[in-house]
Amino acid sequence: MKIFHREIQLREVFFKFIDSYSEPLVLFDPERIDIIYLNQSARDFLGEHSDLSEFFEEQEYRNFIKLIHDCHRIEEQRVISYRKHDGSKGVLLFSLYPVMWEDQRVVFFKFNDITAKIKKKEAKKRRNAQLILKDKLKSIDLVTSSISHEINNICNFMVNNLRITLHTWHDVFKLIKEYESENGEFLLGGISSKEVDKIVPRLMLSIMEGITRISDTIDDFRKYIKEGLKSEYSIIDVNEVIKRVVTILNHHIFMHTENFNLNLHEELPKIRGNTQKLEQVIINLLMNALQALPDRGRGIFLSTGIKGDKIYIEIRDEGIGISKDIMPYIFEPFFSTKYASGGSGLGLYLSKSIIEELGGEITIKSEESKGTQIIIYLPCYDRDGKF
Ligand SMILES: Nc1ncnc2c1ncn2[C@@H]1O[C@H](COP(=O)(O)OP(=O)(O)O)[C@@H](O)[C@H]1O
Ligand SMILES: [Mg+2]
Repeated sequence: MKIFHREIQLREVFFKFIDSYSEPLVLFDPERIDIIYLNQSARDFLGEHSDLSEFFEEQEYRNFIKLIHDCHRIEEQRVISYRKHDGSKGVLLFSLYPVMWEDQRVVFFKFNDITAKIKKKEAKKRRNAQLILKDKLKSIDLVTSSISHEINNICNFMVNNLRITLHTWHDVFKLIKEYESENGEFLLGGISSKEVDKIVPRLMLSIMEGITRISDTIDDFRKYIKEGLKSEYSIIDVNEVIKRVVTILNHHIFMHTENFNLNLHEELPKIRGNTQKLEQVIINLLMNALQALPDRGRGIFLSTGIKGDKIYIEIRDEGIGISKDIMPYIFEPFFSTKYASGGSGLGLYLSKSIIEELGGEITIKSEESKGTQIIIYLPCYDRDGKF
């Protein structure tokens, strides 16, 4: 660090003034990228970091010193991330002011730590997205409850009508047998009078089963929506959740790929969480993977396993991949490249916030036109009730 060497009154007044300034200020020699002076607030903030290259990521630092070096006009409202003392990432909002000082150009670097502010904003965005989702679920619940009411009514009268038809059939069948004994075997709608007793009741039974399935599917869907509105935690078998999701998405899987691979660890420890939310995460990720496949020949590999004291869920696809340009934005709320086909841009965002809520983390690797790999790590639940 180099302090001004020319002894003048003005210099002392000036440094006194910037020392008392409450925001951190650093004065740079832009040619040599030397720190000329730090005010008290900057000294408090930077602590041991007299060398700023340790304070920033390598690429960020390179951009930063270039900006200072080339600074000939005021640069305002820029952001840069930095490494905190505990190793976590923080964000600074900064401005640069070039000033002529005793025939020399110097640059003031004024900054503010906005990490907490950003986190608060993120949390607010996350809450909003959760609220939007809850709101959507509420309206879906409303619609499905009236649809299911309608459908169940229809199903009930179909079942009643079928019962009456079945009773009628027993009487009709007697008549058929009488006619057959007088006139010999004959055809009814292409069915022999000898077979008709076996076939017609079977047909009616399959209609009955169909009606029951319609009404069960609607009930299951309603339960699914209702569960989504709850936020209870329980001990979860992740493999079971995955199997259920695969059943729910069976039709979509079939539409997008003929190469779907499921490889579940047989002794996967359980986790603690909300089943419905985890189901939602897996549905989101699996749908993204399926939607990324350009043809049915490309595959999806869904597996679970153990790594250290965590379990992992890996979803790998051989899809179109994610370009480097958009990679930084994919976890942002409402970021989607699929708006035209109904994307909401909330899938990855909500998935990440659900996984973080469970104390886990989500990692992503992708190569354009090769595919994408997403791994979720989740803490196991042990018998003492601790993670
Ligand atoms: N497996 C994947 N392969 C390729 N791109 C993906 C994949 N998963 C996510 N993406 C990209 O990330 C964006 C955000 O995903 P998401 O939050 O689920 O929103 P949405 O699916 O509604 O677009 C997608 O629009 C897509 O561009
Ligand atoms: Mg999605």
